[in-house]
Amino acid sequence: MIVEPKVRGFICTTAHPEGCRKSVENQIAYVKASKRMEHLVHAPKKVLVLGCSTGYGLASRITAAFGYGAATLGVMFEKLATQKRTATPGYYNTKAFEEDAKAEGLYAKTLNGDAFSNEMKQQVIEVIKEDLGQVDYVIYSLAAPRRTDKSGVTYSSVLKTTNEPYTNKTLDLRTNEIKEVTIEPATDEEVASTIKVMGGEDWEDWISALSHAGVLSPNATTVAYSYIGPEITYPIYFHGSIGMAKKDLYDTAKRMSEEYKESGLRSIVSVNKALVTQASAAIPIVPLYISILYKVMKEKNLHEGCIEQMVRLFARLGSEKLETDKEGRIRMDDYEMREDVQEQVKTAWKAITTETVPFYADMEGYYKEFYHMFGFCYSDIDYTKDVEI
Ligand code: NAI
Repeated sequence: MIVEPKVRGFICTTAHPEGCRKSVENQIAYVKASKRMEHLVHAPKKVLVLGCSTGYGLASRITAAFGYGAATLGVMFEKLATQKRTATPGYYNTKAFEEDAKAEGLYAKTLNGDAFSNEMKQQVIEVIKEDLGQVDYVIYSLAAPRRTDKSGVTYSSVLKTTNEPYTNKTLDLRTNEIKEVTIEPATDEEVASTIKVMGGEDWEDWISALSHAGVLSPNATTVAYSYIGPEITYPIYFHGSIGMAKKDLYDTAKRMSEEYKESGLRSIVSVNKALVTQASAAIPIVPLYISILYKVMKEKNLHEGCIEQMVRLFARLGSEKLETDKEGRIRMDDYEMREDVQEQVKTAWKAITTETVPFYADMEGYYKEFYHMFGFCYSDIDYTKDVEI
């Protein structure tokens, strides 16, 4: 099939297998070129990655495998190709990752299905028992629109404010125009549902299931990812429905640290940088912020993608003394939140109009990363050629 991008709003409904391989291999090359750190006290050896196929989860898996020689077991929720449709990018990413990992003698297995379900938890436990014995790292990197919990109830997450409507600039990804958007407040029920999906409950269920099954190593590490961001996005993110879910994630981390104290489990939230991923493209206001941020951070030579962030994160996680903020969180958003960066973003945010988008925002960088996520826009791939999907 000749595979071309089909973009619908903030999503691309096609994915290019060779392009996805390329983005995985670029990440692998970056990790290999980074400093080797297997000697670190908490270097990962056997890693379970929940949400392993795209974004931060994929970058975590690549870092663990190619940076530390770790065995990785991944869980993802991806669609396979049909006669007429390509698979989702995470499927191709994972296929490429597994092939490259195996070629280097690294254990890599992936289960495709619903990580929120009990069945998946049991399946993972079986695989760990059979193949790995125990895991010493559990990365929780799920980003999902809905979750069916153990009692069979399905909850949906929303991206809304929590008290008042919020109006601000946004970028219309279809036309590249700056428009105003008003985000309505979520109802209490919607906030509660968002917490069910993106909060800590399922993370805790995973740790509990793994621990009870005896497949979690003593002194293991578990990390979940979060975002805080600047004041411009507070109403929609930090104080929004998703922010409430992230707060629940912090509370869960603290609770688990207490509960599993005896086993030495480190349960940590890492606050990561804002990046173009399938999850972040869906949030109003955020893509405009990201494209301005990219411009500022690139000018200052501070820009990082998922893989640069994860290489830095694993180095911090591995070291003997973990550096955290006073809430106990790892701050991988340290460069993003630097005062000089945020001042410049604020100035650009105030000034930006449809006419000045190219001046204030890195739209080219934004779109390039967006298309790369689906395997497109690589200059050395011939997209006019037939490809096996
Ligand atoms: P993503 O959309 O790229 O990745 C989500 C992953 O979850 C994929 O591997 C997908 O297959 C998997 N998944 C989704 N539903 C699943 C299910 N039911 N069962 C099994 N797997 C499932 O998302 P991204 O952006 O990498 O987000 C991961 C985490 O990082 C989230 O907690 C997000 O809030 C956080 N984060 C994201 C930032 C960003 O700017 N993108 C910034 C800071 C934190």
